[in-house]
Amino acid sequence: MTIDQEIQKAAEILAGAKNAAASCGAGVSAESGIATFRDPGGVWERVNPAEVGTADGLMATLQRSPEKLLPFFRELLDTFERAEPNPAHVALRDLEHMGILKTVVTQNIDNLHLEAGNTDVVEVHGNSFRFRCLSCSWSQDFSRKELIREVKEKIDSAEGFTLSEIIEMMPKCEHCQSVTRPDVVMFGEAVQDIPRAFDAARKCDVMLAVGTSGVVYPAAYLPFQAKEAGAWVIVVNPNENAFQRVSDAYIPLKAGEAMPKLVESVKSIIAG
Ligand code: APR
Ligand code: ZN
Repeated sequence: MTIDQEIQKAAEILAGAKNAAASCGAGVSAESGIATFRDPGGVWERVNPAEVGTADGLMATLQRSPEKLLPFFRELLDTFERAEPNPAHVALRDLEHMGILKTVVTQNIDNLHLEAGNTDVVEVHGNSFRFRCLSCSWSQDFSRKELIREVKEKIDSAEGFTLSEIIEMMPKCEHCQSVTRPDVVMFGEAVQDIPRAFDAARKCDVMLAVGTSGVVYPAAYLPFQAKEAGAWVIVVNPNENAFQRVSDAYIPLKAGEAMPKLVESVKSIIAG
């Protein structure tokens, strides 16, 4: 089928949906300027996941050679500060407003689905702008841009970057004044809200798998779970269809291009 035929087929499926779910990966935020992990030039080509992807690895790297990480970390802050929800995020929000999409399950930690306006967002890998206390159950959401501005000021005015100086830059727990950390899931840590994510996959009538390589489980299983439960599966990814075995439509375009086209086609089908 041509790309337009795939979009038309996907739109006909979505036009009849009442409880669609989306399973989103880094590709959804690529057009917001945030690099994906496994594409050429992606994050894992720039830094070694063993050195920054686990809590122990990150602590050891910060202890041993913080200057090695700093430029990458500082650039990441600039990228996250500049990022805005892109047309793919907006299209997912529109599908919720149209009563078609209910839940967005995302592996992304950039807060952009919430800022675009989706209201039922399951962040299985956490959120960079939510901090949690290492000693008690306190956690707090921060404004993305304000937090980044504060951390950048602390970094730019810091004398040195020993591990303890970096920890000192984190917000303090409001309950017990202990050390906090970003509430993101590192490799080897328990993913968050998985029951909610699988509940959405089991109950949805359509699963949109957008911008994910389908490499990291359990999130990667969601489209398969949805198909097992009888849902249609639509994949949006310019380079690969990791869910070929279960997809009913595959749109090989960037999410920022495919998703608005999909919403427009759904609207014209509904308008008749
Ligand atoms: N639009 C849609 N998809 C895109 C775009 C785009 N503009 N650009 C790239 N992609 C696709 C790539 O083809 C790839 O399949 O997005 C996918 C990104 O794959 P990964 O980089 O592996 O990201 P993701 O699937 O989200 O990784 C899952 O791995 O390292 C962990 O915690 C990290 O949450 C991340 C998880
Ligand atoms: Zn505390």
